[in-house]
Amino acid sequence: MQIGGISKYVIEIHTKDDIVKAFNFVREKNLPFYFLGAGANTFGTDEGFSGAIILNKILGITEIPDGEFNVSGGEKWDDFVSFIVERGYSGVECLAGIPGTVGAAPVQNIGAYGQEVKDTILSVEVFDFKTGKFKTLEKAECDFSYRHSIFNSNERGRYFILSVNFKLKKGEVEGELYNSLQRYLDENGISSRDPKIIAEAVRKIRDSKLPKPEEEASSGSFFKNVYVSEDKVAELDERGIPHHGTKVNTGWLIENAGLKGKDFYGFKVSDKAALVLINESATSYSDLEKAVEEISKAVEEKFGFSLEQEPNVIGLEQK
Ligand code: EPU
Repeated sequence: MQIGGISKYVIEIHTKDDIVKAFNFVREKNLPFYFLGAGANTFGTDEGFSGAIILNKILGITEIPDGEFNVSGGEKWDDFVSFIVERGYSGVECLAGIPGTVGAAPVQNIGAYGQEVKDTILSVEVFDFKTGKFKTLEKAECDFSYRHSIFNSNERGRYFILSVNFKLKKGEVEGELYNSLQRYLDENGISSRDPKIIAEAVRKIRDSKLPKPEEEASSGSFFKNVYVSEDKVAELDERGIPHHGTKVNTGWLIENAGLKGKDFYGFKVSDKAALVLINESATSYSDLEKAVEEISKAVEEKFGFSLEQEPNVIGLEQK
């Protein structure tokens, strides 16, 4: 996002031994610490961070028979997707083009175009900063749901993710595809269900509406979609608010509150995807706070929904 201060320490983790050393270092110095992958979905406050950022740089992909893969946390997520689809496996092709690392993927349970990473995860190998021990967390222990896991909720900041164990399916992509993806395939005369071709299509769609963080300062979707309880669905229909089951598209709410393309303290609500904020000229985290407050207030006043921020803020405790 090109905002925020600096951190007192940054520790790069390349091996399992490094994480033990980092653990001892922050314990001895009694420092606050923060785990980071590529930083694609994270920013800092203007005051900076008085502790240690612990950066995951562990590399390696191990193919285990029967579609199982052990992937180190520092691997680039999109490189892993390419590796998988090249080998004819399906399960993550709709997650092509997502910035960030493999170790960050389970934290917010990354999802796009009808897929969520949780559906391919078997377990997560971690180092536990509460006990100082290595541990394997089975999928059921991770409490995955939409943009949620124990890693960004109850156990935030406790587990450093060393690697993720995935199970993928060999062969074509099955089942109904996400609306806009199917539409793109139809419009381009693509009938193949080869995961590599689907991944390419997803990258094209993303490129047409989502800013590339290395070109335009952004952190992808800035707000989460809103989920309502079952008993509120009829009310949505009465009010003419589009929804998919219990999911209300926050992008629609922001657009229909008249905010799309507008500038707030240097942050623009993307005119291609209203969930996305692009930093055009802001220089501080406090500008972002003001922008978020105004956008949230406008949506709340018009529709009565409170918005929830998606990216993480270093040093701030979030639910
Ligand atoms: N919509 C609007 N206006 C907008 C954007 C969306 O009305 O400006 C409505 C439309 O009805 C559209 C629907 O929302 O059909 C869904 O839009 P889209 O498919 O673009 O997805 P999204 O809900 O805005 C989510 C993810 C994206 C992911 C896309 C595609 C979240 C927070 N975001 O966005 O993830 O790429 O679906 O599956 O769930 C990210 O997390 O950083 C991210 C980019």
